[in-house]
Amino acid sequence: MDFSLSPEQRMIQDSVRKFARERILPNAREWDLAQQFPRELLTDMGRLGYLGVPIPEEYGGAGLDYIAEAIVFEEIGYADSSVRTTLSVQMSLVELTILKWGTEAQKMHYLPRLCSGEWIGSFGLTEPNAGSDAANVQTTARRDGDDWVLNGQKVWISNATIADMAIIFAQTAPGTKSKGMVAFLLETDTAGYTTRKMTGKLGLRASDTGEIFMENLRLPDSARLGQVGEGFKIAMSALDNGRYGVASGCVGAAQHALDASVKYARERMAFGKPIAGFQLIQDMLAQMKVDVEAARLLVYQAGWTKNQGQVSTIPVSIAKYFAAEAGKRAADAAIQIHGGYGFSDEYVPERLWRDTRVASLYEGTSQIQKLIIGRDLTGIQAFE
Ligand code: CAA
Repeated sequence: MDFSLSPEQRMIQDSVRKFARERILPNAREWDLAQQFPRELLTDMGRLGYLGVPIPEEYGGAGLDYIAEAIVFEEIGYADSSVRTTLSVQMSLVELTILKWGTEAQKMHYLPRLCSGEWIGSFGLTEPNAGSDAANVQTTARRDGDDWVLNGQKVWISNATIADMAIIFAQTAPGTKSKGMVAFLLETDTAGYTTRKMTGKLGLRASDTGEIFMENLRLPDSARLGQVGEGFKIAMSALDNGRYGVASGCVGAAQHALDASVKYARERMAFGKPIAGFQLIQDMLAQMKVDVEAARLLVYQAGWTKNQGQVSTIPVSIAKYFAAEAGKRAADAAIQIHGGYGFSDEYVPERLWRDTRVASLYEGTSQIQKLIIGRDLTGIQAFE
């Protein structure tokens, strides 16, 4: 078993780490306070190839593998989970889904624009009554001659109000749940499409989150992604990629919590010595280190599965569950080690704590990941 990175993976790690530490990290607090996503950052990230890491070069991507993708998410996640979330949606939920399910014309239309950062994408699955129960979407898609007419509402959609295009999931036969679902690709200036920004979030404040409203929104049949009835499978396969991005980003956030804690513990004096010299501090640091290493290995295992072209649902759910919980544990321990300063937004643990909290909620809660793993173990579905 070879745990070393290839020259290409090492090269992109060096490049994205430098970019994230110089361009993102010093500004993350300001963006968080302003609750604004720095749009111009995406153009630069596109130019450097970070927005299309696993997308083939013929569609404007970097043509690298899934481990390289995880490395990019880890490094961006180290600096700022808000930027990493924007990137995860763009690359994992949107681009890879178009790559897998799109027609050649759809790939040529959307992928170069998304990979370059000219366009931002969003993924419209969740609704007020369809969160964990994703097959319960109430947005309807009705056939009208050669067109489709969509009506409905989405909520908690990352990038909603800044996106140029969206993948929208809808129901063609109410009552049939996953069997009648269909997916569409649309441009957000289409008549009948409006959005509203959601504010007041605990964390990820620099990441755009919003609602989408569709009122008699008319689309040609050529906007359909995949076949009628394939919508749910498209959504689930997208989440096999999205959850991988979340897991990778959490490794970065946990590593940041650890690095900040080691530094602080070596500098902070108490009872006449650095607090790093106390066994109970070392206990917390060691636990964080084990969490970071284990989470990273689980991410790489899932990435290896993807690189082999295998179905990655189970390794991804394992990695997503573990890394999300590890990220939360590490951020919490970082606050404990920083003491009162950890409770202040002058120090990084406070933002890490708020930003990692969502990781066990979005793209499938930790409970959903465990039920997916449990179903695989037992052959029995626990969510019917
Ligand atoms: N890839 C392809 N097909 C898949 C699949 C996958 N990973 N998983 C399931 N399917 C297929 C199944 O094979 C099945 O096909 P058949 O009907 O032909 O047999 C069909 O889809 C139905 O599968 P399930 O029986 O697993 O469906 P279910 O309704 O029982 O699924 C669930 C239950 C696993 C809990 C699923 O609803 C789920 O994952 N829920 C969580 C949703 C979620 O993660 N939402 C996050 C929203 S996105 C977000 O947060 C983005 C953002 O903006 C940050």
